This record gives sequence, C-alpha cells and structure tokens, in this order.
Amino acid sequence: MRVHVALTPADASGLALDGWAAVVVDVLRATSTVVAACVAGCLRVIPVSDPEAARERADGGPASELVLAGERGGQPIPGFALGNSPLEFTAARVGGRTIVLTTTNGTAAMLAARSASVAAVAAFSNVGAAAAWTLAHGRDLVVLCSGDDGAFSLEDTVCAGLIVSLVTAATRTELSDGAVAALALGRYYDARLEDLRQASRWARRLSRMGHGADVDACLRRDVTSMVPIVDGRGVIVPGPAIPAVTPASGDLAR
Ligand code: MLT
Repeated sequence: MRVHVALTPADASGLALDGWAAVVVDVLRATSTVVAACVAGCLRVIPVSDPEAARERADGGPASELVLAGERGGQPIPGFALGNSPLEFTAARVGGRTIVLTTTNGTAAMLAARSASVAAVAAFSNVGAAAAWTLAHGRDLVVLCSGDDGAFSLEDTVCAGLIVSLVTAATRTELSDGAVAALALGRYYDARLEDLRQASRWARRLSRMGHGADVDACLRRDVTSMVPIVDGRGVIVPGPAIPAVTPASGDLAR
C-alpha cells in the first residue's frame, strides 16, 4: 500500500485521488467536531466554503432539521446556531439533524477529499478506528492535513503520523517523504499528546481565546469507533462503528 501525507493544503492541490482512500484531518477542531456530531447522531454534515454559502444552503430549510455551524478566526459566526466546539454538538442539539458547517481550514480539506475513491474523517478521538477503516479498504492512502491558514499544522501532522504508524504496523507500506515525516512526529508525540497543548500554535491560541476545554477534548485519543464517511459530493455521514487498530505490534514504540 502506498501511503502519502499531504502536510499542507498546497501539497494536496495537485494530487489525483482517483483510486485512493483519503482521510481528512483537522484535529483543532473541525474534524474532531464532525466526529462528535456523528457520535451525537446527526443525519449528515455538509461542509461548505464560507458563511455566505452556508446561509444559502440553509435558506428555506426548516430550523428543526438544519443547523448552521462554524467559525472564523476560532470564534462563532454571528447568526449561526453553533460554533466549532466538539462539546457543543450534543444529541439534543444535532441528533437527527443536518449540519451545514463552514470553518477556516477544515471544511476546505473535507471538500478536497471528495475526489478520492473513498474518504473518511479522522481526529485523535477516532484515530485507531480511522486506521482500521483504511486497512479495511486496502487502497493506497493519502492523509489530507487541513493545516493552519495554508501552513503546516503540528497536531494534524501528529494525527496523520499515528494513522501511518498503525497502518504500517499492520500491512506492508511504501511511504512518501511526507508520510515519513508525519510518522516521526506521530511516534514522538504518541505518548505525550498533552504536550501539544503548548507545542501547537493553534492550541495555544484557542486556549487564550477561552477554548481550552475544546483543546483538552480534541487531544483525547480513541474515545470512539465512529468513522464519518465523505461521499462523492463532499457530504459526510456517520459510518458504522469500526473496532480500532491498536499499536499491538509495538510499531509506535520503536
Ligand atoms: C479550522 O477549520 O481552521 C478550525 O477548525 C479552526 C477552529 O475552529 O479551531
């Protein structure tokens, strides 16, 4: 299996994803939020590029069925029902409803994933299950890191590296340079994810903005076996529960 990690959105822009499995990652916070929304029983998540597109998408839809959600600069968008905190996405708020979501970096990466043959959403909260989903498909894998305003994001790369590590421990892989770099960071942070609270620029920024509880929630690993699936239109639906792959082979310890 070929494994590539697109470390920034620019790395992903020229890729032909037909035939590949794509896993999209925005640990802080969009993919953590999508995983939480699916665990809470939402019907689907529709990622869109910007707040105006979100309002248009929701226009005329009954409020009982549609929820507008998202952020800009880490803050909730005026007039939207929900921000981008995974803690907000409870069964009472989103159960049985469609979420129209727009975030600064994450939703663009989700939309990029739709050109892959199969695509899913990962965060630390479902990283083992996301690796198992990848292995079940048996296709070449690309992990799309959402990044930080176009630049490299440490926490996305660490999450990608954990996926690469779990997949590499379970099957023969051929790693790109991006995958090798992510794997090294994944191995380093595997036993110290909490260090990302200080090491990650966006984690520090979110904490300063009063979103420290979100950072804590997003750094928790393997709390669910939910793997949200991205379809060919970019619409995300809750997937079946998938038992997580664990680092039993010891690969992460090497
Ligand atoms: C993004 O898409 O850039 C984010 O998820 C930002 C955030 O709300 O933490």
